[in-house]
Amino acid sequence: MHLLAFSLFAGFVAAESGLAAWLRYAPLSGSQHLHSSLPSHIVALNSTVGSPVYTAGQELHNGIQSIYGKQCNIHHGHWDAASSVVVGTVDEYTKAYGPLHNAPTLIADGYWLSTEGGTIQILGQNERGALYGTFQYLSMLAQGNFTKVAYASNPDAPIRWTNEWDNLDGSIERGFAGPSIFFANGVIVNNLTRVSEYARILASIGINAVVVNNVNANASLLTPQNIQGLGRIADVMRPYGVQVGISLFFASPTSAVQGQANLTTFDPIDESVVAWWTNVTDQIYEKVPDMAGYLVKANSEGQPGPLTYNRTLSQGANLFAKALQPHRGIVMFRAFVYNQLNESDWKADRANAAVDFFKPLDGEFDSNVVIQIKYGPIDFQVREPASPLFANIPQTNTAIELQVTQEYLGQQCHLVYLPPLWKTILDFDMQADDKPSLVRNIVSGERFNKSLGGYAGVVNVGTNETWIGSHLAMSNLYAYGRLAWDPTSDPTSILQDWIRLTFGADPSVVNTITQMSLESWPAYENYSGNLGIQTLTDILYTHFGPNPQSQDGNGYCQWTRADQKSIGMDRTVSNGTGFSGQYPSAVASQYENLATTPDNLLLWFHHVNYTTILKSGISVIQDFYNQHYAGAATAQTFLTQWQSLKGKIDEERYTDQLFRQSFQAGHSLVWRDAIVNFYHNLSSIADSSNRVGNYPHRIEAESMELDGYSIYAVNPFETASNKTAIVTSSNTTAGTASYTLTCGSGTYDVAVNYFDQYGGNSSYVLSINDKTVGNWTANFRPWIGNTEGPRVLGHTPSIYLDGHSAIRVTFSDVTIAMGDVLKIVGTPNGVEKAPLDYVSVLPLGVVD
Ligand code: GCU
Repeated sequence: MHLLAFSLFAGFVAAESGLAAWLRYAPLSGSQHLHSSLPSHIVALNSTVGSPVYTAGQELHNGIQSIYGKQCNIHHGHWDAASSVVVGTVDEYTKAYGPLHNAPTLIADGYWLSTEGGTIQILGQNERGALYGTFQYLSMLAQGNFTKVAYASNPDAPIRWTNEWDNLDGSIERGFAGPSIFFANGVIVNNLTRVSEYARILASIGINAVVVNNVNANASLLTPQNIQGLGRIADVMRPYGVQVGISLFFASPTSAVQGQANLTTFDPIDESVVAWWTNVTDQIYEKVPDMAGYLVKANSEGQPGPLTYNRTLSQGANLFAKALQPHRGIVMFRAFVYNQLNESDWKADRANAAVDFFKPLDGEFDSNVVIQIKYGPIDFQVREPASPLFANIPQTNTAIELQVTQEYLGQQCHLVYLPPLWKTILDFDMQADDKPSLVRNIVSGERFNKSLGGYAGVVNVGTNETWIGSHLAMSNLYAYGRLAWDPTSDPTSILQDWIRLTFGADPSVVNTITQMSLESWPAYENYSGNLGIQTLTDILYTHFGPNPQSQDGNGYCQWTRADQKSIGMDRTVSNGTGFSGQYPSAVASQYENLATTPDNLLLWFHHVNYTTILKSGISVIQDFYNQHYAGAATAQTFLTQWQSLKGKIDEERYTDQLFRQSFQAGHSLVWRDAIVNFYHNLSSIADSSNRVGNYPHRIEAESMELDGYSIYAVNPFETASNKTAIVTSSNTTAGTASYTLTCGSGTYDVAVNYFDQYGGNSSYVLSINDKTVGNWTANFRPWIGNTEGPRVLGHTPSIYLDGHSAIRVTFSDVTIAMGDVLKIVGTPNGVEKAPLDYVSVLPLGVVD
């Protein structure tokens, strides 16, 4: 382990690829004089290689050397020296040095950190706690923080897990950073270096377990070879105190798993099924003696479960609980259980499902079952009320499921700093029994006096060196761990720790990234779906770009019920689905009434006319228009804010993020235009500011002079400007679109909106009077200035011309004279026929 940790560390300093995340231990310049404030000796009170305390010793050694250039000596066991840092458990310390004066009150995983006095003490309640305290101390050092501190820190909740939706073939459901670090070709990969690095990153933010495979699980995880592989995963994560968990396929007993018995039933109360799971569980614990437990998605989205046999969900959960109980493992049983519904039934509502299914079962779950509840009642939307289930099963352990991967929130191609969203849920007061009942105090176990509870974050890291697909998105992973440890922490100060650790302490860097990040969720909400209507993305396809129509007319019940006059889900008890009545009475009555429902959840709870006036004094439809324009305008500033950091952070990460901000700036306009045009078309109500449908700087591709290009009606219509685009008339021959410019002579930004479909890499050349302005390829590499991005955008691709494939490239400072001919030559490739939507010739500073 010694060698492994050291060689990893050596790799980290070499390049700013993102691989080291916030654990870069970047050298602090001019810090020589601080050497006397640093320890010279490291005493790690466990000499067993691979123990977290041993790891902590290595980490201290490497960190202090890298940040400050100071080489410390490492000792194991009792060592008396001035200027030392002692790391170990409280018990190890007591054995070596005698009882601690003023022993702190620590719970499992907690630590005591004291930098007062001659010896720095980092003492954990357990080994893991000692490692957490070590990372905290190193975080201070890496930020040049020498404040004298002496405090105990305990986790708010025992369960602080990540969920990875990795499939055994190496793909990742809703993963946007390349293939799995855990699996390939049906088995666990041989080289687990990235898994070990991931465990290190997770330990540094207090995460104590990883569920390594998709909730849509595959029974072949349970072959002897894969069980052995799980043992290997556990072995590389154990030095960091991170345990393994796995997702189970409920019908595994009948799945003919190689090496296991094949039954004819998976009925959870059938004795042969009980014996099957007991046996498999015992096999796993032989290879992974400290496995954290199971995660189960049952009777949800086509998955089998106990309901298949008319058994209850609690009977299903308890089946696993009993198999795990002798090994002290736990079952995370997901509350994401719902049926498809019919929109013609005004009272039908998927949001009701969790409480309908689970409330009657309160008290029937074994004590090692935890119900894992998504933060909102539907599915990780940009705005949801807190799930009422948190308040409805007081006799049951609960955990909150958050999504670090941005499935519905821009798939890491849009900057969205999520903690402010999470805080609206964690700090929400359910007022159960008219007593303060914050969601965070329910999931910690405190409010209903439960011993288990906590956090599950769906992360979906991949082999991409940025881990989740974008450098800036890593703030969400960092903050997830920090909030799971202490949900009262302030999202801004968490963010700023992360910025300093990731990019350095230059105040302009810290301030700029802080501002962009804090503006990002409101901006995304404004241009994707405001007023509680949810993310108006394509829920049937990629979950990426706009497609408001897709919400309605299917069984998923993410309905908007938008018609020509009105919009929103009536979830009242008096006239709607009754969902508001699932909350404790004070909250229920707030949401029941239009007047007391906050505007940002208005359309979640009420069906209203477009002309209904909001608390802001503006009508619903006008607010839609205004906010979509405002959100997209804010997203333009992310690009310029990021550009202001050129030279202040390393070129590699600067450039990579620049492409993403450029993409977001363009795609936010796609969102804006699609949503406002869709509702403008539906409601026939004009935008009082006359922006919608009125684009003075645009040249529609279909109105250019075309040679080898044909006009194409885009579906959904609102995802193309003026509903139409052009595509080359053949799959092999280039087409040309020309236009004689009528704008006055001057300098302009020229933006070209095109479509980047999956299945082809068309290429384009833009020229003015036959002089090339730029050329680019539609291959998911965002493009800005004169270079194509080195990395591919990781979002789910689309094979169509639609809101997912729509993309913009901008050429700045182009000199144009009246009467110049603008020409685009598009060369098709594969199925992609060099599609073009429009060109904007923009006076400098104007965005349209
Ligand atoms: C969403 C997501 C699915 C996922 C499901 C779940 O619906 O789109 O990919 O399987 O949630 O959480 O189980």
